[in-house]
Amino acid sequence: MSTILLAGGAGYIGSHTAVELINAGYDVIVADNYANSSPESISRVEKITGKKIALYEADVSNAADMEKIFSKEHIDAVIHFAGLKAVGESVQKPLLYYRNNIDTTLTLLETMAKYNVNNIIFSSSATVYGEANKVPYLETMPRGECTNPYGWTKSMMEQILTDAAAADEALSVVLLRYFNPIGAHESGMIGEDPQGIPNNLMPYVTQVAVGKRECLTIFGNDYPTKDGTCTRDYIHVVDLAKGHVKAIGYILSQDKCCDIFNLGTGTPYSVTEIVETFERVNGVKVNHIYGDRRSGDLAECYANADKALEVLGWKTEKTLEDMCRDSWNWQKQNPNGYRG
Ligand code: NAD
Ligand code: UD1
Repeated sequence: MSTILLAGGAGYIGSHTAVELINAGYDVIVADNYANSSPESISRVEKITGKKIALYEADVSNAADMEKIFSKEHIDAVIHFAGLKAVGESVQKPLLYYRNNIDTTLTLLETMAKYNVNNIIFSSSATVYGEANKVPYLETMPRGECTNPYGWTKSMMEQILTDAAAADEALSVVLLRYFNPIGAHESGMIGEDPQGIPNNLMPYVTQVAVGKRECLTIFGNDYPTKDGTCTRDYIHVVDLAKGHVKAIGYILSQDKCCDIFNLGTGTPYSVTEIVETFERVNGVKVNHIYGDRRSGDLAECYANADKALEVLGWKTEKTLEDMCRDSWNWQKQNPNGYRG
C-alpha cells in the first residue's frame, strides 16, 4: 500500500485524515513542529487505529528537516496541511504568515522534486473565492481579493502549486478548498484544540457550553440572510478527512493532474441555526448575545460540491446534528483539549 506524508499532520484536520487514511489501508508519516498542536493527537490516532505512525518533529519550511524524512522514507504522496491559520493574527503579523506558509510550500516542492515524489494535495480554503464571486462557489470561478494575509497566503500558494505543476510534467497537484470544518471523531479522542480565545464559531460555542467562557457574541444579525446572521457551509471533519482519502486515490491513479475541488456540503446554515441545533441535540444552554458585525465577514459562503462527487465519488454523509454532537462529545471529554 502507498505511504502518505502528512505535513502538519498533528493538527485538527491532519489527525482526522490520518485516522481515515489508516482505516483505508494507507501507511502514514507525520511531520509537524507543533506550532499549533502536540504529539498527543498522534498518540490518540494510534489508539483509535491500533497502528503505529512514524512521527517526526520537523519544520516543514526547513530543508534540512525535510531531507531527513525524504532520505529515510519512501513517500508516494504528500498532503500539505502545515501552516498558520489564525486570521486575526495574520493581520497583526503578516510577515510571519507569509514566511511560514509560503516557505513550507516551497521547501516541500523542492524536496519532493529532489526525491522524485510527484503527488501533492494542498489544504486550501473557500476564502480564496474572495468577496466578488456569487454563492454557491464553483471551482471554475476566478480567485478573488482576500480580506487578510492568511487568505492571501492560500491564494498565493495555489498559484505556486499550479505554476509548479505546469512546469513539471511529472508533478500532480490537487487543491482542496475546505469550507467550514467542525465536529470531531466520534470517539471524542481527537478534535479541535485552539490555543487561547477561539476565533472560530464552534470552538467558541463548545467553550461557552462547558463553562470556560461566559457568552457567545453572534457577529451581526442584520445580514441579508434567512435570519439576519451569516450563513456558512459547515462540514464534519470526518467527512472532510474522507475527502482526502478519495483525493489520494485519485491523484495516485492519474499520470498527471492539476485539479481543484471544493470540499463542502453545499448546504448553508446560519449562526443562529448552529447555536439552536447545538442546544437541542446536546441538551445544553449556550448563552449568547447579538453584537456588531466582524470586519471581513461575508454574509454567505457555501460550495457547489458537484465536482468532488463527479470526479472523486465523494460526498458528505454526516448531518449538522452529528457535527454538533461530536463537537460537544470532544469538548466534554477534553475540557482543556490535549492538555488534559
Ligand atoms: P491546525 O493548526 O490544527 O494544523 C496545522 C498544523 O500545521 C499544526 O499541527 C501546526 O503545528 C503545523 N505547522 C504549522 N507550521 C508548520 C511548520 N512550519 N512546520 C511544521 N508544521 C507546521 O489547523 P487545521 O485546522 O488542521 O488546518 C490544516 C490546514 O488546513 C491549514 O493549512 C489550514 O490553513 C487549512 N484550512 C483550515 C481550515 C479550518 O477551518 N480549520 C479551513 C480552510 C483551510
Ligand atoms: C474564518 C476565516 C476564514 C478561514 C476560516 C477557517 C474570517 C473573516 N474568515 O471563516 O478565512 O478560512 O475561518 O479557519 O475570519 N461567529 C460569531 N461569533 C464568534 C465566532 C464566529 O458570530 O464568536 C460567526 C462569524 O461571523 C461567521 C460564522 O460564525 O459568520 C463562522 O465564523 P468562523 O468559524 O470564524 O469561520 P469563517 O468566518 O467562515
